[in-house]
Amino acid sequence: MSTEFDLDTALNVYAKGELFNPYPLYETLRARKEPFWSENLGMWLVHGFTDVEEGLSDPRLQNDRILGYERSLTPENRIKFKALNEHLSHWLGFEDPPVHTHSRGYLKEYISGKLAIRMKPVIQKQIQEILAKAGSHSEIDLITDFAYPLPLKIICDLLGIESGREEEFKELADAIGVYPGNVGPILNDVAPAAALALVKMEAFFDEMVVKRLADPKDDLITRLAQLSVEGLLSHQEMVSLLTFVFLAGFGTTLNLIANGMMLLFTHPEEKEKLIAHPEMIGSAVEEFLRYESPIQIVARLVREDFEWHGKQLGAGDYVGLIAGAANRDEDIFPDPERFDIGREPNRHIAFGRAAHFCLGAPLARVEAQIAVNEFFKKFPKAEMVTPVPDWLPIISFRHLGTLKVKLNNEN
Ligand code: HEM
Repeated sequence: MSTEFDLDTALNVYAKGELFNPYPLYETLRARKEPFWSENLGMWLVHGFTDVEEGLSDPRLQNDRILGYERSLTPENRIKFKALNEHLSHWLGFEDPPVHTHSRGYLKEYISGKLAIRMKPVIQKQIQEILAKAGSHSEIDLITDFAYPLPLKIICDLLGIESGREEEFKELADAIGVYPGNVGPILNDVAPAAALALVKMEAFFDEMVVKRLADPKDDLITRLAQLSVEGLLSHQEMVSLLTFVFLAGFGTTLNLIANGMMLLFTHPEEKEKLIAHPEMIGSAVEEFLRYESPIQIVARLVREDFEWHGKQLGAGDYVGLIAGAANRDEDIFPDPERFDIGREPNRHIAFGRAAHFCLGAPLARVEAQIAVNEFFKKFPKAEMVTPVPDWLPIISFRHLGTLKVKLNNEN
């Protein structure tokens, strides 16, 4: 167990996003069995599995965190960037019941388990094209050449972004996403670019909506545009929901595929087991999700003062429910530091819980299962070149910068 001094040092490095192996810190925090106030991050950290699970269902912890963004802006910027905060307030991940229940219902009609089954042939076709392209090189970067293009194409297909405009759309969504991805005074610096991207995004969707209403397709833009014509959804809500679905589903799935591949390369005996038994891919993907959860922290804001596990939480405090720590809790997962592609049961919390449980979970699972199995079917002798995992300095996501792999595909 770490000493207090070690804990302070680790927390300082963690707050800067530079603790590339956060798991010893998580273990130390879990042993305290209570929420921990991090001065550096300005938030409560919650790390035990049952506490994180409880926090995800507790109505006293709300998803609406707009107040936190507003109070970080200067009074002048609060007025200047009002539209940006309004846009964010309609993201599903920032809504609470009863509004959340309606918006979620609209998305659920389209993003369901059935959609994942319907998308299977599209995923298969895409992955064959990606692997054929990769096969013309001896070495590839698994992030840019493999884990990136599949979820980008799939989420854009789901939304209804025209072929050839995926990158343009992604750039706008990313530029908006930088704003909610930050906390504190830095928001004043990132808001102008995000606000500009939002204006362009509105124009992008105005154009798409006109086209889809004239020529309806089986995609989410068509569905939401029809709801907006029926008066059930404002144009602003529609743009927010579409932007949110992209940001919720693209980077997360990319990271699931990339982190899973890295885990297999760094655990060769598990990789060989999967190559010999591709039918184990279902439990393997669940173990990728548990062991290196793409979303490490799920954020909430305290709605009202209350005491929780011996700590006094104040209205307006930020709370970070650390899914990445909960998923290594020894009280729930036997031998939690062991990466085991056959782990059963595996009730990880990587897709959240309760009212906000991930709508795209079935789709993300299918994409990762097909991508990983097809990769090793084509390149069973591939080897990792990157000596140590190149984690990016972000605390909320487990995101690799590069993952160089030699394909060794000349028979
Ligand atoms: C490995 C990939 C993914 C991971 C790890 C992941 C994780 C999560 C988590 C933890 C939440 C809950 C957030 C909260 O409680 O505030 C969530 C919500 C959500 N996810 Fe995912 N997600 C993934 C892929 C996807 C995909 C592919 C889509 C879309 C097709 C998607 C759409 C959503 C939506 C719409 C929500 C909001 C649900 C709500 O607030 O009611 N996700 N996701």
